[in-house]
Amino acid sequence: MSDLQQSLFLKALRGEPVPRPPIWIMRQAGRYLPEYMKVREAISFNDLCRTPEAACEVTLQPIRRFGFDAAIMFSDILTPLAPMGAEFAFGNGGPQLARPLRDERDFAALRTYPSLDGVPFVAEAIRLMKRELGDKTPLIGFAGAPFTLATYLIEGGGSKNYENLKTVLYSRPELLRGLLEKLGDQILDYLRMQVAAGVDAVQLFDTWGGILHPADYAALVLPVVRRIMDGLKDTGVPRIYFLKGSTPYNHLLRDLDVECCGIDWTQDLSLAIAQLPGKAVQGNLDPLCLFGSAEQIRDRALAICRQGAAAPGHVFNLGHGILPQASLTAVQTLVETVQGFTKE
Ligand code: CP3
Repeated sequence: MSDLQQSLFLKALRGEPVPRPPIWIMRQAGRYLPEYMKVREAISFNDLCRTPEAACEVTLQPIRRFGFDAAIMFSDILTPLAPMGAEFAFGNGGPQLARPLRDERDFAALRTYPSLDGVPFVAEAIRLMKRELGDKTPLIGFAGAPFTLATYLIEGGGSKNYENLKTVLYSRPELLRGLLEKLGDQILDYLRMQVAAGVDAVQLFDTWGGILHPADYAALVLPVVRRIMDGLKDTGVPRIYFLKGSTPYNHLLRDLDVECCGIDWTQDLSLAIAQLPGKAVQGNLDPLCLFGSAEQIRDRALAICRQGAAAPGHVFNLGHGILPQASLTAVQTLVETVQGFTKE
């Protein structure tokens, strides 16, 4: 087996014994890093996502600085939507879509495409990243889950109450279902392209999957997540499902065929582990804990490491993405704590 297959990250995802949990953090390549801000002075965010050399450089930045145990390819969950006909602008107020999906024609106009034709730069970026990372650090590929992508497409950006999405859900559920199916086709193809280009694991981000009644989550969101994950099984690459706010749905995730579930910081990790037998877990320090004292960061990170030791596998992460205001010293403290932990 290659050195990469023996990495802590891939071993933990396979549920094999490891001396300590591997650590990476969501949004580890980003605005809290001065070297990222430097790159962004010369290139827009959209261009950064579409330029393999630049995307490769910012993917490597957090690995060089902190020695994380896994890298995540630099891109955005909204990037593969542009060739479908929905190009987001990234301003200071977050992503914005000029024409959000509202009527039947808008939904019908959204088209699927072969990923290698529409976003070839993602495959190219992955090849560059793999070459640079060598057999030391595994590379995570990712995509947004259909429901989370649908919230951005229908709201046209971030939202507080999701009134447009919920209006469709409660008046034209078949329209929403059709959109989720279409996005499911696209995302499965997109993730398979990433695996073919060389990623070692994949994560599906379902940031807004937690805003529904469990019955709607089960009827609408979960089936298409299951289709994507089942459709990746034959690749042999470990699959991580990060559903923010999954507490009311954990029992529904038990029989989802994935190697690992991401757990947000509002959950007690031990309870989540008990609810997800046979699965590795990833998480779950509050990203805002990095705004606290070094002592608190250490204590809370160690508590999570101890809890995680009871799972078949534990990958240390934050419970959601790191914020741009987080301090480098705080991240350093966190990484040293987790990498210095030894299981009893
Ligand atoms: O984790 C990583 O380091 C890999 C890169 C990555 C980004 N976005 C880079 C990014 C990943 C995995 C994402 C996922 C993503 N993007 C999600 C799901 C996970 C989550 O955090 O909830 C969502 C919902 C998005 C959509 C998105 N992209 C938003 C809402 C924003 C604006 C808000 C913000 O944090 O700025 C983005 C922009 C974005 N994506 C930036 C980065 C580094 C900042 C852009 C900049 O450089 O100005």
